[in-house]
Amino acid sequence: MVIIGSDHGGFELKNHVVKYLEEQGVEVKDCGTYTEESCDYPDIAKQVAEEVKTTSNSKGILICGTGIGISIAANKIPSIRAALCGDVYSAKMSREHNNANILCMGGRVIGRELAFMIVDTFLNTEFLGGRHQRRVDKITELESK
Ligand code: RB5
Repeated sequence: MVIIGSDHGGFELKNHVVKYLEEQGVEVKDCGTYTEESCDYPDIAKQVAEEVKTTSNSKGILICGTGIGISIAANKIPSIRAALCGDVYSAKMSREHNNANILCMGGRVIGRELAFMIVDTFLNTEFLGGRHQRRVDKITELESK
């Protein structure tokens, strides 16, 4: 299951990504926003991050204008590793090395086709574990500090 959300800055790209995934038969939960009206990205980040945290086998996608604010906000939720990606290599590494569970993108930064490639890469790349697990565990430890 893919849980997705955006603010107004990511609204248009979010709708394209939802359609793109649904056309491939991917189960998508769209947490909004549902209009172009201005809204606050931390509210959407919180909703999607909490859903990802409590839904097994899920990943999240968050989109705001730059992807910056919404990724900062999502990373405040314990056990969330939100990765802002504007290229395919970063999307691949965010999964293989960081075990990222939310992909963040900037709707005003990247084009639709690149976004689709980033989404495909993020959703279809597995975490490598090993020495990367040790590092991810150290990130988790920071949450209790
Ligand atoms: C909204 O104008 C914009 O600030 C937001 O979408 C995002 O880019 C924040 O980081």
